[in-house]
Amino acid sequence: APAQIAVTGLAVMGRNLARNLARNGFRVAVHNRSQGRTDALIEEFGHEGEFTAAADLPALVESLETPRKIIIMVKAGEPTDAVIDELVPLLDEGDIVVDAGNAHFADTRRREDALKAKGLHFVGAGVSGGEEGALNGPSIMPGGSTFAYAALEPMLTKIAAHVNGESCCVHVGPDGAGHFVKMLHNGIEYADMQLIAEAYDLLRHVLGLSAPEIADVFRDWNSGDLESFLIEITAEVLSQVDESTGGPFVDVVLDQAEQKGTGRWTVQVALDLGIPVSGMAEAVFARSLSGDVVRREAAAGVLPGPAGKVSVDRDAFIEDVRHALYSSKLVAYAQGFDAIRAASEQYGWNIDLGAMATIWRGGCIIRARFLDRIKEAYDRDANLPSLLVDDYFKEAVANGQEAWRRVVGVAAAAGVPAPGFSASLSYYDGLRAERLPAALIQGLRDLFGAHTYHRVDREGAFHLDWSGDRKEHDA
Ligand code: 6PG
Repeated sequence: APAQIAVTGLAVMGRNLARNLARNGFRVAVHNRSQGRTDALIEEFGHEGEFTAAADLPALVESLETPRKIIIMVKAGEPTDAVIDELVPLLDEGDIVVDAGNAHFADTRRREDALKAKGLHFVGAGVSGGEEGALNGPSIMPGGSTFAYAALEPMLTKIAAHVNGESCCVHVGPDGAGHFVKMLHNGIEYADMQLIAEAYDLLRHVLGLSAPEIADVFRDWNSGDLESFLIEITAEVLSQVDESTGGPFVDVVLDQAEQKGTGRWTVQVALDLGIPVSGMAEAVFARSLSGDVVRREAAAGVLPGPAGKVSVDRDAFIEDVRHALYSSKLVAYAQGFDAIRAASEQYGWNIDLGAMATIWRGGCIIRARFLDRIKEAYDRDANLPSLLVDDYFKEAVANGQEAWRRVVGVAAAAGVPAPGFSASLSYYDGLRAERLPAALIQGLRDLFGAHTYHRVDREGAFHLDWSGDRKEHDA
């Protein structure tokens, strides 16, 4: 029988996705630009299901039932365009092309338009969970038309992770919505990791705990509200011993965080949407700073830090850091969901925010117990202006805020950078402020540039004649 679905691009993610489909009983055609990977897949895993190996794209297309469903799993950007360009002339009207890579949603919108003009369906689908997820059940965030999704749904929902019997795959919305949400997932992933790194740094440098001791702290945290994949693997990384030195693995790793770009995109896009995603922005900047070797070398040991040592109670400080981490994490998610809401409005995607929390509960890198709390928050109020004003969030931060403030204070006093903790706290304080100093900024703008201002007590725009009689005029 002809294959039901195809995967082209058999690096580890594509290979595992193909195996996942086959293991779930779907007939999968597989192809890779260099045939070695195809052969290796068949040789090693051919027994896992019904595979058809295709030597080239025409053979791949030939092996499929119609309408054809082809998943592209190659590098984002030009490599994806190259495959699409080669594939499109081989397809017939109604065929469905799925890009499961980490594409920029703007590229996905462009590609969908281009394929639509040719009578083809294009689905940009975010896939999260790394190699392990791709094989055993990722979180899947498909965009594209309802029609195309309906054709893919039985397969995608089956191969996705499941939590309490619910599939971690939901149609996100039209065109680029799926890739947008995947991008945001990664932005939150960056923020989560930065906050975890700050917690570790504080425990290490303020309390002087060793890496394995901190691993125990994270293990303990993983049994409470913070329970999540990233907290769990933090304990694993911190308890790893380096074979050659016998010391902690984390101490032999070069402290320069790399990035492939999805976190940076999130921040760039949020700037355009006008949504403050300060937690994610600080996470991206912290990675940039870590990699800025020239300036770090010029400054390390040269720029002075605080003179004295800060002393704190061990157990109380650990508990404070836990609160700071959780509260900052809540802020990052609140900001992330704001960005999704704003994009959904701008592009007319009509994204169900609660459902996004549901599909992130399993399979993906940011999977966490507290995502249920987000779902519940949107169930209580679908038009929630910010997650932070939901009862659960409000109370969680109310419980943690004094601790959070102490931690930011200790970090500053001890000279340990905590950009994620402090930016998130500033966002929280900015959000809840009755009056912001933005009033002064408006005054300055009006003085130097006649940019005008609005009043709290009257409608309209005004300008003060700063260089003349200093009287207020309608602008
Ligand atoms: C996922 C991950 C995945 C990838 C990150 C890494 O959801 O499975 O997010 O997409 O591992 O993009 O990103 P950086 O290399 O930019 O840290």
